[in-house]
Amino acid sequence: MDEFKISVLTPEDWVLYKTVRLKSLRDSPDSFGATYEQEAVLSDAQWQLRLDLQSRALNALPLIVQIGDLPVGLAWGVIHKPDVATAHIYQMWVSPALRGKGIATSLLRAIKAWAIDQGCHLLALAVTIGNEDAVNLYESSGFIATGQLEALRVGSALCVQPMVMQLGSAV
Ligand SMILES: CC(C)(COP(=O)(O)OP(=O)(O)OC[C@H]1O[C@@H](n2cnc3c(N)ncnc32)[C@H](O)[C@@H]1OP(=O)(O)O)[C@@H](O)C(=O)NCCC(=O)NCCS
Repeated sequence: MDEFKISVLTPEDWVLYKTVRLKSLRDSPDSFGATYEQEAVLSDAQWQLRLDLQSRALNALPLIVQIGDLPVGLAWGVIHKPDVATAHIYQMWVSPALRGKGIATSLLRAIKAWAIDQGCHLLALAVTIGNEDAVNLYESSGFIATGQLEALRVGSALCVQPMVMQLGSAV
């Protein structure tokens, strides 16, 4: 495999972000609360705004993985006020042909380092029951299941399991 690089997305990257996000929603409809149909209709301005963290007053780390110019992975770290001790992980996705090569592990490592730097004590996410690849990834990275199952989205029979990882060095 050619070297992959992880970069932070900026508002100027909105076309790249839109491309990889819509690809992820189409590829893995059961992995995310949002659907392809919901996001395919977003306007250009809405895609740009998502990455305009300053306008949104949002503390977040939107990461893209590329091999050359090709986008092959995505993940966000987000800290929601008022719980600034917890960083949430969203939108984690790796292109099917490149799975099992450590790309998601590298994304997790980058978000964990950022969260520690931001003073967080906890990393949190929710994973769909039955998504074995993702559950294995998170368990082997140190996440543990916690709390009640929740519906993936309104009207879905699928459930997500919340998982957390204590950020020991930040405590
Ligand atoms: C879940 C997902 C993000 C994992 O991405 P990935 O890049 O394949 O993950 P990694 O390669 O980092 O880790 C997967 C496995 O490969 C192993 N691995 C890591 N580096 C490796 C390498 N260099 N060579 C071979 N295997 C490797 C990891 O140990 C891990 O094994 P484990 O699950 O038994 O612990 C990916 O399957 C995906 O995009 N799924 C669809 C979307 C999704 O479900 N997202 C999660 C939403 S919560």
